[in-house]
Amino acid sequence: MNTQLIQLAYLVAAVLLILGMRGLSSAKTAPRGNLIASIGMLIAIVATLLMNKVVDYTVVFAGIVVGSGIGVVLARRIEMTAMPQMVALLNGFGGGASALVATAEYLTYDRTGVTPEGVVPYAIVAGLLIGAVTFTGSIIAFAKLQELMRGAAITYPGQNFVNALIALSVLVLAGMVVAGIQGLVPFWALAAVSLLLGVLLVIPIGGADMPVVISLLNSYSGLAACATGFVLGNSGLVISGSLVGASGLILTKIMCDAMNRSITNVLFGAFGAAPEAGGATGDGESQGTAKGYTPEDAAVIFANARSVIIVPGYGMAVAQAQHAVRELGDLLESNGIGVKYAIHPVAGRMPGHMNVLLAEADVPYENLIEMDEINPEFPETDVALIIGANDVVNPQARTEKGSPIYGMPILDADRAQHVFVIKRSMNPGFAGIQNPLFFNDNTMMIFGDAKKVVLSIVEAVRAFN
Ligand code: TAP
Repeated sequence: MNTQLIQLAYLVAAVLLILGMRGLSSAKTAPRGNLIASIGMLIAIVATLLMNKVVDYTVVFAGIVVGSGIGVVLARRIEMTAMPQMVALLNGFGGGASALVATAEYLTYDRTGVTPEGVVPYAIVAGLLIGAVTFTGSIIAFAKLQELMRGAAITYPGQNFVNALIALSVLVLAGMVVAGIQGLVPFWALAAVSLLLGVLLVIPIGGADMPVVISLLNSYSGLAACATGFVLGNSGLVISGSLVGASGLILTKIMCDAMNRSITNVLFGAFGAAPEAGGATGDGESQGTAKGYTPEDAAVIFANARSVIIVPGYGMAVAQAQHAVRELGDLLESNGIGVKYAIHPVAGRMPGHMNVLLAEADVPYENLIEMDEINPEFPETDVALIIGANDVVNPQARTEKGSPIYGMPILDADRAQHVFVIKRSMNPGFAGIQNPLFFNDNTMMIFGDAKKVVLSIVEAVRAFN
């Protein structure tokens, strides 16, 4: 196919990808945005397949069939709560693919004796380095989140020094590859050291920082693809790679801001090294006695309430309680109670986790209220109903200077007249710290699985009507 037509197709694809991403900025327009971006991607793929460079379609189509088959099975099987590790794997494969393309191109140059010119040698090095770091870094992130290895930060004395040494050797080797010194040896050495660097950069990161790292690795995979685009002279890859790189960086910054952490602190702060942070099994130090109540007690309070704010968290996702929560919300509304849902930007384990779950249960978008908007409403609200949330409502973040979550903006649920907390035990949340909210006079704990408890409350409210 004509090169100019292919470039035009890439331009159209790029515009559609940007419009698609714009659509993703709101839950309402997201499905359309997704569709537009998919059409853009399809155009880019078809244009690439029509390039004269493609000499054999057999391998290409075999790859499409096998890749799509695995993709469909994984996408259908994966639990919503395991989405971060799925994304980690996808990033890793993207980075790995870029590193392989850079390697193949370098070997072709080496075999044919042609010297790569202009930006190409730099792009080969960048594609290999960033792609390899993304590959092994993402595999480690996957293994941590899938609990195939210890999830907490792994640290050892002199760690930053070792990493700095390795980074220095990467720079030297990269310089040698670009300058064409010593043939293939520095190239393979650079590949090996980059793979090692990916592992070493991710092992000291743990606990609640993992989703941030995955977003950063997502950005890296985009940068690696962009570099590969320069290697191949493919503008479509350059544009889509830059879009992924930039959006991953923006998301990383948003997540860091929402946790009140800097990116350097996330990468080199070894957060969660000790005590073990992650999951709902750690021990929180006790701060008094939390009071256990029943669903029937909740029904009595709801009978006298005019306004309720539901605060969902990771536990709602684990229990898959979103449909039950919607049922309760509808029931309370039919009793004349105003019901809103408070959404914390890092509730759950991935960006937009709560929005996705509640949208799946058909909770109207306009009832999902962002943190800054809902916080002033808590003091005037009769009941805050916290369902499987912990860190995002922990008042320690406001007052305890030594706390790992100090400074993180939280939902002011503790300021409501009555607070119900549904969770299974007194175990801490992802940050591994106890929550003083549970011991407040106006807090009533209802222990149990979120779905079962919410359904029991629904029954109790009906019985009370
Ligand atoms: P968490 O603080 O992790 O607390 C979740 C609570 O849910 C746990 O205390 C657990 O207590 C409870 N739970 C678990 N399974 C349950 C079930 N089946 N039924 C009822 N309760 C259950 O959650 P959060 O408040 O949503 O905060 C999210 C955390 O992840 C924050 O630390 C945040 O910084 C971190 N993080 C999130 C993101 C994104 S993008 N969302 C990114 C980076 C970090 P029990 O074991 O007692 O039930």
